[in-house]
Amino acid sequence: MKVFNTIAQMQEFSADARRQGKAIGFVPTMGALHQGHLDLMRQAKKENTYLVVSIFVNPIQFNNPEDLEKYPRDLNRDLDLLKTVACDVVFAPTVSEMYPETVTEKHDFGALEQVMEGATRPGHFNGVAVVVKKLFEIVQPLRAYFGEKDYQQLLVIKKLVQKEHFPVQVIPCAIIREPDGLAMSSRNTRLNAEERALAPRIYQILREAKQQAAFLSPDALQKWGEARFREEKSFDLVYFQLADDTELQPVNDWKSQSGVLAFVALQLGSVRLIDNIRII
Ligand code: PAJ
Repeated sequence: MKVFNTIAQMQEFSADARRQGKAIGFVPTMGALHQGHLDLMRQAKKENTYLVVSIFVNPIQFNNPEDLEKYPRDLNRDLDLLKTVACDVVFAPTVSEMYPETVTEKHDFGALEQVMEGATRPGHFNGVAVVVKKLFEIVQPLRAYFGEKDYQQLLVIKKLVQKEHFPVQVIPCAIIREPDGLAMSSRNTRLNAEERALAPRIYQILREAKQQAAFLSPDALQKWGEARFREEKSFDLVYFQLADDTELQPVNDWKSQSGVLAFVALQLGSVRLIDNIRII
């Protein structure tokens, strides 16, 4: 397994692979790896000649300085885990390597970034788009793998690829959960024991919402979900939102929709958690 810290090293590897007609499967991450990340990697390894993983805690996508400062970092542990999925190349640049100058680049994703994570984390998706664009240019993958855990991010990346005409296939991957249903996340390690015990309730409510959809209108389900999350005193609800699966706009009736998901973001102690479930 090769570990590159500079853009030049990574570019040289990618150029060679391209020349030899070898497919690069790419999984961008911010490290603090867990089984959710590794699942994306196993799929990428299966479908491509090379698995390239980036580890970069991207400062410009954090709208909350405390979240950036407390983001878990453990490169040596990550490297051990990467060996277990037969990763070929790890790209782990420094902040100054990625951003030698202040970033001024602006992306516009229209309505897609005006809801949910986009509305509640100003600048977040712009920061994601800047780093993913740069990573795609450096790594030159044939396929790139993103988790549905960050469903809105996945749609933003698909739009980025369309707009920039990147020759990259964006592959969505299902959410990987703990045995008790909590969606795996690097931030889960920051929950204390009491918070960790309460966290599985998030997915329980989402599953109940899916069942309730058989009996309730979208508007009634929206209210039902909000009420359930607000009943949990330790949850500080940021949003519970039903939205269509392509533009993430509000849903008025079930019949006119081909796909609908329920999304939630909440603060549990000092940790902000997100999750989602497909309703139809
Ligand atoms: P990070 O949070 O490290 O996640 C890296 C990838 O793993 C993302 O595509 C995310 O959706 C996926 N992932 C995380 N938890 C998952 C789970 N429980 N099940 C399935 N997939 C999961 O997302 C980012 O990093 C960054 O925004 C990044 C795209 C790297 C840009 O900086």
